[in-house]
Amino acid sequence: MPSRMFFSSGDLMADRRFEFARDLQLKGDLPAAADLVLQAIELAPDFTSAWFMLGEIREELGDNELAVAAYRKATASDPDDRQGAGLRLMRLGAAPLSGMPHAYVQALFDQYARRFEVALVDDLLYRGPELLFGAVLSVRAAARKPAFFKRAIDLGCGTGLAATAFARGVDEFVGVDLSPRMIERARAGGLYARLEVADMLDFLRTQPDASVDLVLAADAMVYVADLAPVFGEAARVLMPGGLLAFTTETHRGDGVIIGEGLRYAHATACVRAAVAGAGLALSLLEDRSARNEDGVPVPGLVAVAAKTAPSTNPS
Ligand SMILES: C[S@@+](CC[C@H](N)C(=O)[O-])C[C@H]1O[C@@H](n2cnc3c(N)ncnc32)[C@H](O)[C@@H]1O
Repeated sequence: MPSRMFFSSGDLMADRRFEFARDLQLKGDLPAAADLVLQAIELAPDFTSAWFMLGEIREELGDNELAVAAYRKATASDPDDRQGAGLRLMRLGAAPLSGMPHAYVQALFDQYARRFEVALVDDLLYRGPELLFGAVLSVRAAARKPAFFKRAIDLGCGTGLAATAFARGVDEFVGVDLSPRMIERARAGGLYARLEVADMLDFLRTQPDASVDLVLAADAMVYVADLAPVFGEAARVLMPGGLLAFTTETHRGDGVIIGEGLRYAHATACVRAAVAGAGLALSLLEDRSARNEDGVPVPGLVAVAAKTAPSTNPS
């Protein structure tokens, strides 16, 4: 699926050629699309979106080596990598797996915010928040505790779907997201006491120890390669007895990979290790898919981990 992201070259003629090339790409006339996008690049040599499209077309044509060259030009022309060419390089094995560029996540969701809920909920049957809510309810029921929380942090809160699912069980919701447009939508929903545009790890680092009793991450860990730092900070800000509940995409191999949809997929063992490394106890880990792609459930996990109360040492 070609990327829908676009950053103008600043040259009207080059932008026009890019648009025609995109039409041809969508119609499947790849050689003609490649010719036209090369003409756009001739007019605007630092045209990131055009280099990126050339990479996509070359991939579709089966020429990964030339695709890599084009993606490298895309990253060189925009070191912040708003287009996410670095992820394509990782997926093609031409760059080591590393973190998701923040500028890419922000641009992706800023451009997506207006149609996010329709695209995700209606088209991809997104069910992450409901899965998390069900998982938290069952963990609390097993512990014979009510599923009520005083203060919750929603990591990668997006437009606020998780706050909607948990609305009746949480007194005060705090949301954090990299995308200002997604935060605007969340703010309009009126469910959060506080919302911040920030990276989730940076935000957690500003929070006091033992200050919340629930941390949620619905379909947000798919944008985090290394779970350990986020889980470590979540464990620190949780009160004893508090819960971290999250979804991830997963795969049958080892470690972390970047999938077709340019989201990370974490192997079950890697999720278990990150939870244990943060000093949390896994209360629930189930194979559950949070969304479909091409009509098929994407392999996923839903997990709830608890911060156990420190054991008292009888003397
Ligand atoms: C697929 S959306 C899910 C939104 C919401 N949790 C839901 O269930 O509808 C993922 C969200 O995570 C945000 N995100 C990704 N990486 C992030 C990071 N490092 N820090 C903060 N937000 C992040 C994105 O901007 C996006 O809004």
